[in-house]
Amino acid sequence: MNIPRKTPDEIEKMREAGRQAAAVFDMITPHVVAGVSTGELDRLCHDFIVKELGSTPAPLNYHGFPKSICTSLNHVVCHGIPDFDKKLKHGDIMNIDITVKTADGYHGDSSVMFVIGETIQGERLCRVTQECLYKAMAEVRPGVRLSTIARVIQAHAEGFGYSVVRDFCGHGIGAGFHEEPQVLHYDGYAPEADAELAPGMCLTIEPMLNAGGYRTKVLRDGWTAVTKDKSLSAQWEHTLLVTDTGVEVLTARADEDLSFLSA
Ligand code: MF3
Ligand code: CO
Ligand code: CO
Repeated sequence: MNIPRKTPDEIEKMREAGRQAAAVFDMITPHVVAGVSTGELDRLCHDFIVKELGSTPAPLNYHGFPKSICTSLNHVVCHGIPDFDKKLKHGDIMNIDITVKTADGYHGDSSVMFVIGETIQGERLCRVTQECLYKAMAEVRPGVRLSTIARVIQAHAEGFGYSVVRDFCGHGIGAGFHEEPQVLHYDGYAPEADAELAPGMCLTIEPMLNAGGYRTKVLRDGWTAVTKDKSLSAQWEHTLLVTDTGVEVLTARADEDLSFLSA
């Protein structure tokens, strides 16, 4: 139950890792259109991270994960494996999850939903999931308990009739991809649920919401997590630093309006 706190030097390295993860989204976003394959999106991200950023895509070979990013479509909850045979089509929703490990050895982890064409149900789920992340981020400051963050997310999701995935959580992050603590997105048991946030802690918040039930299962590829009832699923993720007064969003994107945090 010892949540690591970063030194000023480590915080600078985390800022760079976060900026790099955000830069990958700026690069890939124009490519996310109907007809493109998730394998192609993976290839573009891989090459950008390695050649342009001089960094490493952390998922590649992580516990045997075969690709450089995760692409999770429709009823896939998380850890979808990019595939040159899987092409995006009108009405799809997709999460891209990107984790960069810098040459300095620090991680920036973020994920974003993309809506391909039009889907009223899909757009609503994506919007409410992002609202869950944003409401949770607004709670982040020294002294706040992780259980508070969990409850804020669950209350907002269930208010719309959605369920919160329990089988995956957010995490501490730094030189390790996944560090302590576990960051639950629902009101459940975690060893650190009562722990108070303190300046210098770095963590992700990454709620996954399902249009149906919260249960998931992992496909026979050993990675792809899907909703048990085949309902739609969405996720958004940021890497965050707890500051003296609140939160710094290390993976903030250039086009992202985070003014609600300073209001
Ligand atoms: N980026 C994911 C997370 O948010 C983890 C992906 S692990 C992988 O924690 F092996 F599937 F890439
Ligand atoms: Co994460
Ligand atoms: Co991630």
